[in-house]
Amino acid sequence: MSGSIPKPFIEDLVGRTDLVELIGSRVPLKKAGREFRACCPFHNEKTPSFWVSPDKGFYHCFGCGAHGTAIGFLMSYDHMSFVEAVEELAHRMGLDVPREGGNAPAAPRVDESLYALMARVAGFYQEQLSRDARAASYARKRGLTPQTLQTFGIGYAPDDWSEVLKRFGASDASREKLSAIGLIIAREKSDGWYDRFRDRLMFPIRDVRGRVIAFGGRVLDQGEPKYLNSPETELFHKGRELYGLYEVRQNRAPLRRLMIVEGYMDVVRLHQAGITYAVATLGTSTTPEHLRRAFRLISEIVFCFDGDRAGRDAAWRALQNALPEAKAGRELKFLFLPDGEDPDTLVGKEGRERFEARLNDALPLSEYLVTHLSTAIDIRHADGKARFVAEARPLLERVPAGPYRELLLERLAQAINLSGERFVAILSAMPGDSNRRANPANGNSESFGAQPDTSSRTAAQQRRITAARSGGRGSLVRQAVQNLLLFPAIAAQISQRDVEALAGIEEPGADLLHEMLVSLHEEPATSTAQVLERWRDHPAGARLAALAAAESIAPNAEAASNELRNALQRLARATTAAEIDALLAKDQAGGLDAAERERLKQLLTQSRDPA
Ligand code: UTP
Ligand code: MN
Repeated sequence: MSGSIPKPFIEDLVGRTDLVELIGSRVPLKKAGREFRACCPFHNEKTPSFWVSPDKGFYHCFGCGAHGTAIGFLMSYDHMSFVEAVEELAHRMGLDVPREGGNAPAAPRVDESLYALMARVAGFYQEQLSRDARAASYARKRGLTPQTLQTFGIGYAPDDWSEVLKRFGASDASREKLSAIGLIIAREKSDGWYDRFRDRLMFPIRDVRGRVIAFGGRVLDQGEPKYLNSPETELFHKGRELYGLYEVRQNRAPLRRLMIVEGYMDVVRLHQAGITYAVATLGTSTTPEHLRRAFRLISEIVFCFDGDRAGRDAAWRALQNALPEAKAGRELKFLFLPDGEDPDTLVGKEGRERFEARLNDALPLSEYLVTHLSTAIDIRHADGKARFVAEARPLLERVPAGPYRELLLERLAQAINLSGERFVAILSAMPGDSNRRANPANGNSESFGAQPDTSSRTAAQQRRITAARSGGRGSLVRQAVQNLLLFPAIAAQISQRDVEALAGIEEPGADLLHEMLVSLHEEPATSTAQVLERWRDHPAGARLAALAAAESIAPNAEAASNELRNALQRLARATTAAEIDALLAKDQAGGLDAAERERLKQLLTQSRDPA
């Protein structure tokens, strides 16, 4: 695995990206003063409420609240994952994305000309489909419309041993390339090469950017194998790619879920019917890597399997691979079709609405797990229950510790009429590999309780702090954070001493303000977008993004700087006053020691100084 992408690189990228150009190439923008506006691409509207600010590197919709940086835009609009969006921005600037941790070698750079060659061959296959009556008639017979053939770039590999070889492999170098991308195969007995795909309907497999990286080819009628897939190559790793994902992302409607089906034809026909969120694995079962990719885009995934024996087996394998990715906040469901049907045939018969209605009956992962275990085992008696627990145990161990596993454990216990505690007790008492965690519940280090409030402020302290919040304009801290976020360059005007003074302040958000100032002193930023990217994975990241979108009070950097300095002083004063109150109260109650008395004296003189 390669390391993470260095933050400074990301900030530099968003700082340099021309947001107006990026968004403008997808959404028509109109200039309006220093900003640009448009009808929002994320919700339906007739009057424009979508604003793009080139200065801040930030967009915001006053209608639906959508907002973000260049990276956020690509994630929402092109349905990219974070890393993909960074790669796309880097690519636009002709940069390579660096990775942290030098020991993990960066992925070897793929020869760009391989993609170009793939694209030319894909074009050739497409052209052949329109020329070959038999292939075209097969595509029609399978219910594929010309529009669908076009959208998915479906083609035909002619019935010939050397058509691709002849057209694209004139030189040794080009034959090496064709072989490297899996399109031709070296002969075993003699010199020479031959085409891998012959007389097949060709489904191109595309990467995030829409580049063809592999093919799946189906025989036109009978024949073995029914589907022939590209081998693993530099461009193609089948445990990672999902067929149809690029096409899913081409849809502008917000993505609500992904449906993972088994076949090429299933994906294509589902999209044709309007179910444009279907993808397929490529002749393998779903891997955790597939799921990680999918969950970066969306939190709801529905597996759809044929109702036959093979489908049920595949579903159980999918469940096992899905367990490591099961977490609170993610939805994993299983839909079983009637025996003898696959999504292709079924959606052809009943259409989109009735097919989608079936999604209501999809089983959540936990229910499928319970159903599967309790149909296989007679759980009415003690031995059955023990077996149930024994079978459940390795499955539970695959689920990461956390609330989801807790709930799953409860649900399993309930299925055999045991309390959660009894279930765990039996689980732990079971003989097992001593190297493994004997008790899944022990692995759960997360705490669920709310953090107790350990600070015991006096009423007077609380009053002072409340008073420090300026009436109606949001708390001082919030305002300071917003000013810093919208005009990050003003951090340079705050003295080191003022930053340090913030460290001790017990005000909600003061720690964030302190952290921002420290960070911006160390590494200045010039735009809001850069700051947002720096805090993207921080617990406060979402709050910052919302603040960036909220209306700003300070009209310009100068005003923002004054407000920020003013806020810092008032915060410092409020804290001093609170400390004085506390010391005075203690003095009355029981007396102060020498150090405390000294401190009080110091504070009292200090607070009398004009601020
Ligand atoms: P199926 O055998 O279910 O075929 O394979 P299908 O999708 O219904 O195809 P049609 O309708 O007969 O054309 C499902 C998937 O398994 C992989 C392919 O990815 C296929 O889409 N597969 C199947 C292979 O890789 N090789 C094969 O020989 C068969
Ligand atoms: Mn089929």
